[in-house]
Amino acid sequence: MTTAPTAPTPPAATTTGAVGTARSRVEGVEKVTGSARYASELPFTDLAHGWMVLSTVARGRVHAIDTESALAMPGVLTVVHHGNAPRVNTDYVGQLGPADPTLGVFQSDRIPHVGWPVALVVAETSEQAREAAEALDVTYETQPHDTAFHADRPGTYTPENAEVSKGDVEAELAASAVVVDARYTTPEQHHSAMEPHAATARWDAGRLELVDSNQGSMWVADELAKLFSLDLSAVRVRSEHVGGAFGSKGVRPHHVAAVMAATELQRPVRVALTRRQVFAITGYRSPTAQRVRLGAEPDGRLRAFEHVAQCSTSTVREFIENSALYGRVLYEADAHRTVNTVTRLDIPTPTFLRAPGEAPGSFAVESALDELAERLGIDPIALRVRNEPDVGPVSGLPFAGRNLLACYEEGARRFGWAGRDPRPRTRREGRWLLGTGVAACAFPSGVAPSTASVTAEADGTYTVRITAADVGTGARTALTQIAADELGTTPERVRVRIADSDFGPAWVSGGSMGTRSWGWAVIAASRELRERVALLTDIPAEGVTARVNTADLVASLAQKERYSYGAQFAEAAVDVTTGEVRVRRLLGVFDAGRIVNPLTTRSQLVGGMTWGISMALHEEAVRDQETGGHVGADFAGYHFAANADVPVIEADWLGEVDPDDPIGIKGVGEIGIVGTAAAIANAVWHATGVRHRDLPIRPDRVL
Ligand code: MOS
Repeated sequence: MTTAPTAPTPPAATTTGAVGTARSRVEGVEKVTGSARYASELPFTDLAHGWMVLSTVARGRVHAIDTESALAMPGVLTVVHHGNAPRVNTDYVGQLGPADPTLGVFQSDRIPHVGWPVALVVAETSEQAREAAEALDVTYETQPHDTAFHADRPGTYTPENAEVSKGDVEAELAASAVVVDARYTTPEQHHSAMEPHAATARWDAGRLELVDSNQGSMWVADELAKLFSLDLSAVRVRSEHVGGAFGSKGVRPHHVAAVMAATELQRPVRVALTRRQVFAITGYRSPTAQRVRLGAEPDGRLRAFEHVAQCSTSTVREFIENSALYGRVLYEADAHRTVNTVTRLDIPTPTFLRAPGEAPGSFAVESALDELAERLGIDPIALRVRNEPDVGPVSGLPFAGRNLLACYEEGARRFGWAGRDPRPRTRREGRWLLGTGVAACAFPSGVAPSTASVTAEADGTYTVRITAADVGTGARTALTQIAADELGTTPERVRVRIADSDFGPAWVSGGSMGTRSWGWAVIAASRELRERVALLTDIPAEGVTARVNTADLVASLAQKERYSYGAQFAEAAVDVTTGEVRVRRLLGVFDAGRIVNPLTTRSQLVGGMTWGISMALHEEAVRDQETGGHVGADFAGYHFAANADVPVIEADWLGEVDPDDPIGIKGVGEIGIVGTAAAIANAVWHATGVRHRDLPIRPDRVL
């Protein structure tokens, strides 16, 4: 049943106050005791194990795959490859857009990059599959490859709709008293979820079932149905627990390979990726090369704002890291020009990685503003306040709740910003030079249609069903709290079942839109249930269920600039004799609307900010141009912040709710990482007087 669009709805008649109360995860005990089973741990009768074989060359063709000796090895059941794999359809539109041709696994002999799947070896045990996969004799015809990304590479182009502008940037720059023209780079970065990708596929009574680790079971079910030309009702995907995702857990080649093998063998087939394979085939954040030009009046008012951001993608699919979106909503200027450009290389296809676009984009823009503040002799916060827009700087749309100025104010007060000596290299403590830096941050607060059903059970409890995903964020707990409040009961009487595509279409855990999108569906279904239950004298044995899809509600939402905002503050200490940078303090004050669960919200924000430390100082995937593959594609070679790198991080929020927003929840999934790296880089400048425009700020770059 679908509810008609309504005006902003008043709060439910009674609320229990569950929303806004810190609660530990409803599945927390299961997780810490190890009884929560992850995708690769669930038992299946007659389970077979698949091992992916990935291309070792960066461009060319598979010349031959000699399967004979592999098939003769102990336990080996089959080898699936382009010579025997079933055809799949990659001409469709999925929940997140047109099909990804990367999912055309084993469809031809073409090798577009290192790590391209060339075979799946299936055996009775994982060890046997691995042994045979490593012994599989694959020969290649190689062609010259090109994997080197750098600024302004020949062949770089501007995709459709990737440029937005107003006014005449060149004229405004020429008329500006001060111009900053600076180039920034960020490296290839990886998701590094604790739980590597894994999926088990099987046929059960004519239905394809997948037990998976993903960010959206309906997303995966829908794509698999389309790939294999099945009716959606013939596919069921579940993903009960997920150990991190960050954008990488969509539909991936191992899903397709697992389904192919399960179909051929007619038994369950599990494909679990190794850490190296995760680096190779599950996506990553493109490196970026960005140029920011700012032109300002002596008082700091911006006349010109220009941001050109270049990323790279594969020859298989155009995936754009939209770094230049960032300034379109944040800063007013007479002339605005923001452009995303892309270079196609013989590399794997990048994908969404936490705050796609905003994370690298904010590094460039928030660093450039700090450079401008320095040049103008204006406080960096005052400069930002001076360029705060009244409406969308390019769109002209009204803002739906924008409390960024209050974030600066509250952040500055708590951080002790007042009285800061703006001159660099003025604070020293033993061998450490100390500095402080600030940056703004923003991330869209979107909402997408979802379906929720809520059942009033005869025993007085309630069951919520929604194809949400809890990738470790606490989504299950947040939805429990939301439902409890709307139903006028306590969270203990609500069970929330998620991550089963049989529960109907729903948004994915992504784009900072999960809790907002699912929460709205749970609110709407709970309200409808209350109305129905109010007319009954008692609940029948089978319960009473209300099911709502929010498509019409979402469509009725007024068009506005809807964003979460924040101000990030960092204190850095730099040892100029060793090049070591230590972050001493981080503070983020966010405008993120209604906070459902302060405990898990703080964890989300602190997690994002911790990743910001990592982005500023550690993370960098290096490609060997000779082989086209990664150097050190593991947690020894790919550095990220460890406990010892992370100081006490403070994350807090204003808690203001836009009265015009029917949901009030804005989203905190992505914003924690936005702006953090710039705040740290700005603090390093303040400490040392040296600008770091290339991430990460490694010791050798400091020296
Ligand atoms: Mo997020 S990068 O949409 O998982």
